[in-house]
Amino acid sequence: MASRSESVVGDRTRRRPVHADDSAAAGHDRPDTVVRTRGFSPDRGYGRRDGPRPTGDRPKTPATAAATDRSGATVRLIATTNRGFESVSTDEVAGLVSASPSVVWPGAIAFEGDESTLYRLHARARTINRVLVEVAAGPVDGLDDVAALVGTATIPEYVAPGRPFAVRSTRHGDHPFTSMDVADRVGRATIDAVRAAGGDLPVDLDDPDTILRVFVREDYAWLAVDVTGGRSLHRRGYRTVEHEAPLRPTMAAALCRLAGVDDGTSVLDPTCGCGAIPIEAALLARDRPPVPDRQFAFDAVPFADVDQFRAVRDDHPTRGRCPPIRGIDVEDRWIAGAHRNAAAAGVDDDVAFELGDATATTPSADLVIADLPFGVRTDGTGLDTLYRGLFDALGDEPERVVVFTARDDLVPVEPTRRLDVRHGRLDAAVLIVE
Ligand SMILES: C[S@@+](CC[C@H](N)C(=O)[O-])C[C@H]1O[C@@H](n2cnc3c(N)ncnc32)[C@H](O)[C@@H]1O
Repeated sequence: MASRSESVVGDRTRRRPVHADDSAAAGHDRPDTVVRTRGFSPDRGYGRRDGPRPTGDRPKTPATAAATDRSGATVRLIATTNRGFESVSTDEVAGLVSASPSVVWPGAIAFEGDESTLYRLHARARTINRVLVEVAAGPVDGLDDVAALVGTATIPEYVAPGRPFAVRSTRHGDHPFTSMDVADRVGRATIDAVRAAGGDLPVDLDDPDTILRVFVREDYAWLAVDVTGGRSLHRRGYRTVEHEAPLRPTMAAALCRLAGVDDGTSVLDPTCGCGAIPIEAALLARDRPPVPDRQFAFDAVPFADVDQFRAVRDDHPTRGRCPPIRGIDVEDRWIAGAHRNAAAAGVDDDVAFELGDATATTPSADLVIADLPFGVRTDGTGLDTLYRGLFDALGDEPERVVVFTARDDLVPVEPTRRLDVRHGRLDAAVLIVE
């Protein structure tokens, strides 16, 4: 794995070096070695007291808004994904919205799009975690430069006034400031910009409607409005039972894409746990929305409309047929959890789960997709036997085998293709064998 490069941002006003990655983000999909810090004291509220949070129905577009109508206009979008899976998400986004994404930092891709791009990605994309509208970006040499980025954008075009607002910031590299400093300065500058346009932004750090995310990576920074909102897209509603070593559903979906799941391929997950891979395979095969019934933060940007999003999401026929999809696990409790999750996802008729030993099964599936145990959160004894026994059992039968593991040294066959990825704090790999 390429190691993270760290460089010192020269800063004439250096107070103290802050070496670790850090984040003032609550619930943000942060880099793995982030030192998490809580945001800001509600008392501080970016240096202001903005009065009580509005109650009741929030106005879609407040009367004070000087919002420019950007309907149909092209904006720059950033989608966050799981590190190492950028190429998979790039393919997915390109196919869904005819964009040409490029990687902006590990775990993030950027591309051009309009409001319909936002709707389509939130309705259909399976491998990305968040979609953000880029407000400003540029090189930075100190905190003043980060705050000054706010002034380079016409903020009311991107941030809907009148709605409870918070800044979450993530910092990567060596800087003389923390992510909390970043969020505080950017928050103040954004409120000032909205006020200058005749609007207001009440601060609500705990339950904001609008989240402005700031990413400072070495000597470059991005400001972006989070249209996905507080809950990442990887938080699928069906996960009612969580495995002790869970695979993110957005990663499971990426493995399914790498395997080539469609409505005509049979699938086997020989170590299925609570069923993330079989469930994502069924949703993909049927082309069903991965995150149905979720509220997103379309009201955060003045040019998006939640009703249009619902129309896009609902106006999409799903496929009637599903190929045989099976999951096997050696532990009863996980099979029970997989059944419950599949029922919650509405695919219990499409997926079969059974108790069994992967090394003793005779797999008859076109595609085998496995999140193999690697002994960090699960029992690590006998891994060698499991890996060897599984590949012996599989033989040449499957068209393609895709395995996700942090113990690729135990995989007894040479992969055709390999992706180096991150799994929490671990270096892991996806191996594709054909
Ligand atoms: C990393 S977990 C899979 C987690 C799953 N992807 C999820 O998100 O719920 C690996 C699973 O392999 C199962 N396992 C271990 N040895 C096995 C074997 N010989 N046959 C089948 N399953 C096995 C474990 O019980 C565990 O549930």
